Amino acid sequence: MKAAIYRSYGAPEVLEITDVELPTFKDDDRVLIRVHNASVNQYDNLFRKGYLPTRLQNGLTKPKTLILGIDVAGTVEAVGKNVQRFKVGDRVFGSCLGSHAEFVCPHQSGLCFMPKNASFKEAAAIPCAAQTALQALRDIAQVKQGQKVLVYGASGGVGHFAVQLASYLGAEVTAVCSTSNLQWVKELGAHEIIDYTKKDFAENGKKYDVILDAVGKRTFFSCLRSLTETGVYITEHAFYPMYHPLQLMVSSLRRHKKAKIHLARPNDKDLDFLCTLVEEGKLKPVIEKCYPLDQIKEAHRHIDRGRTKGKIVLDITSE
Ligand SMILES: NC(=O)c1ccc[n+]([C@@H]2O[C@H](COP(=O)([O-])OP(=O)(O)OC[C@H]3O[C@@H](n4cnc5c(N)ncnc54)[C@H](OP(=O)(O)O)[C@@H]3O)[C@@H](O)[C@H]2O)c1
Repeated sequence: MKAAIYRSYGAPEVLEITDVELPTFKDDDRVLIRVHNASVNQYDNLFRKGYLPTRLQNGLTKPKTLILGIDVAGTVEAVGKNVQRFKVGDRVFGSCLGSHAEFVCPHQSGLCFMPKNASFKEAAAIPCAAQTALQALRDIAQVKQGQKVLVYGASGGVGHFAVQLASYLGAEVTAVCSTSNLQWVKELGAHEIIDYTKKDFAENGKKYDVILDAVGKRTFFSCLRSLTETGVYITEHAFYPMYHPLQLMVSSLRRHKKAKIHLARPNDKDLDFLCTLVEEGKLKPVIEKCYPLDQIKEAHRHIDRGRTKGKIVLDITSE
């Protein structure tokens, strides 16, 4: 099968399209999927670049697992003996490693039926980014009706889902993004929108119950005076603890105004929940661009620029 692989860490040029063996069933709980679409996440870019924490997982000097990709949407081709939920021909989406390839063989627990009203492209855009936003707002911040939630980096993959989900949870949402994104982000359900190129929200004197730094560009300290007494700052920056140990230490000593780091945990319950929201018209992925798998380097360059509007998706096999 065709796959995008990388044999060394570095710039997008390390990626190549090549033929590799079909994945095999390692256990009876797995599902073989023909991949129609997969999204490209910052996660892929961090692994490709070989940041130290990713090297500890995937090889210090060169990658052990060669295929990137963590989100998938496709059709079931075969199921293991213990798989009862899915059958051949089902349209599924979910989380699985190595999805930048024509076939993947994930564990059934990371999968869910596709929303009936979504295309494969749309479904592939959902899993990692939407689960991250959902878990941060619903589980970590425990957002309640009427609370004031500020989403920083509201136009990115995680951010644009966070605006919609905070609004769904009943919050009064303030979205922060740059000028060219103001209009479409407002239409996602933000009550107020702030252009960070013109003013800093931390200077506006307002207080928020939750500040979700969806793009990892702020610090707890820079948000402190914008938090209510019981407010919480959540960062999605995967390596926040390495950069800001002092801030976490200070947060742990405080009775109020806490800083939390969130690492998403993919699971089928959250996917089912997100699927229902999509079917009810309460959540919609925004896709800036779709690249054929052959243009994987260009897709990575796009993500590397850090200015994606919503999500980037790969076209891998046709239906
Ligand atoms: N913790 C977890 O489990 C988890 C899961 C997923 C992602 N992440 C992390 O979360 C972060 C965001 O991921 P993502 O997929 O949403 O990224 P992304 O889609 O690449 O984010 C791009 C967005 O960031 C905005 N942006 C760039 N610089 C900004 C700035 N200085 N201030 C405000 N917005 C800015 C851009 O908007 P403008 O063009 O308007 O500036 C763009 O819309 C990454 O660090 C990623 O590694 C963590």
